[in-house]
Amino acid sequence: MTWSNIRKLAGALALSLMVAYGGAAALTGSPALDVAQAQAQTGGQVPGGASGALSQSEMWRAVRGGITGTVSIPDKQAGQLVQSDGDVWRAAKNGPLSQFGGIFLLVSIIAIAAFYLIRGKIRIEHGPDPQGRTIERFNALERATHWLTASSFIVLGLTGLNVSYGRYVLKPILGPDAFAALTYYGKLAHNYIAFAFILGIVMMFFLWVRHNIPGWRDVKWLAVGGGLFTKGVHPESPRFNAGQKIVFWLVILGGASLTLSGLALMFPGDIQPWAGTFAILNKLGASLPTSLSILQETQLSVLWHSLVGLVMIGAIIGHIYIGSLGMEGAIDAVASGQVDLNWAKEHHSLWVEEEMTKGDAGRTQPAA
Ligand code: HEM
Repeated sequence: MTWSNIRKLAGALALSLMVAYGGAAALTGSPALDVAQAQAQTGGQVPGGASGALSQSEMWRAVRGGITGTVSIPDKQAGQLVQSDGDVWRAAKNGPLSQFGGIFLLVSIIAIAAFYLIRGKIRIEHGPDPQGRTIERFNALERATHWLTASSFIVLGLTGLNVSYGRYVLKPILGPDAFAALTYYGKLAHNYIAFAFILGIVMMFFLWVRHNIPGWRDVKWLAVGGGLFTKGVHPESPRFNAGQKIVFWLVILGGASLTLSGLALMFPGDIQPWAGTFAILNKLGASLPTSLSILQETQLSVLWHSLVGLVMIGAIIGHIYIGSLGMEGAIDAVASGQVDLNWAKEHHSLWVEEEMTKGDAGRTQPAA
């Protein structure tokens, strides 16, 4: 190669380098040429600090662990791609809660059937009053309140059980279409009739609370099982005995709890009972989370609502039995309001004495 050819080649190379530099500087906007980003990308990093191709598994692990970002749309919960507590919630609801709940209801029914077979119907020991006299047990307002609460509770209990167990029990019998329609209308009924139940328990509370304050006589009554298991045993009792006080408080406290958790499910985000409840429990020594998302609040409300509902249904099955088939003369109290005088003396002796001392001859009525 001649000297002049070498000079031409070097000139061409220098020109190409200058064109390349000029182009790159124009593209990056920097006369000093920022090569750091390009170098970083070759190391697996992309500009801006995102993980890029470096750690897909790290990123998805964080998403699966419930990492929450920010979003500009109104639904702020959308900032969380995966709420993994849902897995635990679904497993608890479809697993132990459903299974033990179903077993609990079956055991309640079997226990009542066994009680009926062993004890039989509890009769009025001395027979109905020979002169057919009765005494007013519940007035019209009390009976209306009882049946408002009772009828609404029965609809709520059946439609609630359908939500929990319908797909296993009714769907195979009715087929998917009829079951879907039933569940749709049942859910609507559940949401609206809940307000009749709420009214019922509020009225019940004000009408009967003063007769349901626990006292030492209740301990005596409980000690002999209320005489329910032994013929000829009739522990003295005021207007409500210990068993009835237990039913009353179960209905009031259970009803209030169902109301709160039910309203939280109807208005998610507006009513969030759990963070506050946990804060109170923490003061008593628990260590529960007090910063809960709307979804976590809702999941806890579903579990609690189902649990309290199941316990109440089991207890009320027992109440319905003893108030109807199980005890002669009891149903009159909530039907006509007038109970047989001998029935009243056997089951609520102190109350009868109190009524008898009242001016109107104890509101007793002669036989019709
Ligand atoms: C068909 C269903 C029902 C029947 C046959 C029935 C029957 C009775 C009877 C006979 C009494 C009066 C007991 C007495 O005179 O001392 C009574 C009272 C009462 N009922 Fe019901 N009841 C039914 C459903 C319900 C339901 C669903 C609830 C609540 C969810 C309820 C709550 C109460 C309460 C709190 C009392 C007063 C406390 C007591 O006597 O245990 N009842 N019921």
